Amino acid sequence: MNIGVIGAGFVGLVTASCLASNKNPVTCIEINKKKINNLKSKKITIFEPNLKKIFEKKFNKTLFFKDNYEDINRFDIIFITVGTPYSSNKVNLSSIKNSVMNILKNYNKKKKITIVIKSTIPPGTTNYLQSKFFSKFKNLILINNPEFLREGNAVEDFNKPDRIIIGTKTKRDNIYKILSLYKSFKCNKFVLSYEESEVSKYYSNSFFASLISFSNQFAQLCDNLPNCDLEKINKTLLSDKRISISKTIPKLENYLIPGIGFGGSCFPKDVEGIIKTLKNKKINNSFLKSIININDESMQHGFKIINKNFKRNSKICILGASFKENSDDTRKSRTLYVANKLKELNIDFQIIDPKVKKLGKHKCEPFSKQTIKKYKNFILMTKWKNFENLYKLNFKKKIKILDFRRFFKKNKFKSKHVDLISVGYSSLIKK
Ligand SMILES: NC(=O)c1ccc[n+]([C@@H]2O[C@H](COP(=O)([O-])OP(=O)(O)OC[C@H]3O[C@@H](n4cnc5c(N)ncnc54)[C@H](O)[C@@H]3O)[C@@H](O)[C@H]2O)c1
Repeated sequence: MNIGVIGAGFVGLVTASCLASNKNPVTCIEINKKKINNLKSKKITIFEPNLKKIFEKKFNKTLFFKDNYEDINRFDIIFITVGTPYSSNKVNLSSIKNSVMNILKNYNKKKKITIVIKSTIPPGTTNYLQSKFFSKFKNLILINNPEFLREGNAVEDFNKPDRIIIGTKTKRDNIYKILSLYKSFKCNKFVLSYEESEVSKYYSNSFFASLISFSNQFAQLCDNLPNCDLEKINKTLLSDKRISISKTIPKLENYLIPGIGFGGSCFPKDVEGIIKTLKNKKINNSFLKSIININDESMQHGFKIINKNFKRNSKICILGASFKENSDDTRKSRTLYVANKLKELNIDFQIIDPKVKKLGKHKCEPFSKQTIKKYKNFILMTKWKNFENLYKLNFKKKIKILDFRRFFKKNKFKSKHVDLISVGYSSLIKK
């Protein structure tokens, strides 16, 4: 099957590279000049574990890049993976519409093509696109197929998905192409309506975001109580039979770790997006709104902990710039808020990140033991494995680490001079 992928961002590049490694010829169409020029000259534009290897292996063999839609009629399936950011109080669908218009402008009306929307779009959007644009073309089949990959683990998630959702309006035999493409993927496959498919994605992201805010609400309480560690309390919760389906415990626990809130390109915009959908339908959205409110408060709470623990003349080393480990994506990274706040307070700092070179206006340095040794004050923002090297360093003088991700374990430090302050563990109480 000849495959087209519109958009070469995080989802597009992973989708194209993974499908290309399954022997399908795949062409990625990207309109960002800088990005496409890099990709065409075999320079990968994002960091994801194992992606570079696949990209380089398949480049110009089964994986191709183009900056225009001219060859659209060659494709049997076209995936749309363009961005759907939340801006000016709504989900911005202009890139989706733009790609649809470009496809239709170049379409010859004869070729049977399945158009698959992978981008996250508000409920009702696929039906709107179907009636407004696609219903005139009997050979075009529009499908909604939300993507659930997680950045930092995207290749593995794409190749071994937990589930595949096909949202369709047409009869089952019209989706044979997409089903046969996904045949080798061993997971639950759901054939749903457009609306069910669209809502599934928001349901999932809102669920995980709500766990984070739920835990962070309690982290604020624990930080204001003596001898109170939310990590221990989480273990008591997770031993409850009602949620103890043994295989899921450690994974669910990942979303209950106290922290400074979620960032990234998906949770913030998707929760905002579905809040707006509910508002448009005049449905009470206070539960979902509180996820965002608590997420904002977690940041304010973090600043309180910084203020309490670091003097104005401190020099601080911030560990991690990307919004999560194993990714160089800095969209809505919490580190940017922390860095801006430190700058506002005139506190000297340096950001260290293994992959990110610049965060907003702040230059980042790669991780090295030499750089680390220059500092006595640290704020951990991203759980990069590299930062475990701090355990081995023989700090001779007292150092302070403020851990906003509950990454470090006190008993693992070789040095006795580490003062570890952990969010969600009595961090606002004088010890
Ligand atoms: N990033 C994730 O982890 C993730 C996971 C699941 C779902 N999603 C969803 O997938 C979609 C894409 O997310 P992303 O993070 O890959 O976005 P992104 O911003 O990294 O990539 C989108 C790409 O599309 C390109 N583009 C925009 N308009 C175009 C057009 N008309 N023709 C061709 N290219 C065009 C942009 O230049 C950009 O390179 C979003 O809807 C997002 O919510 C993202």
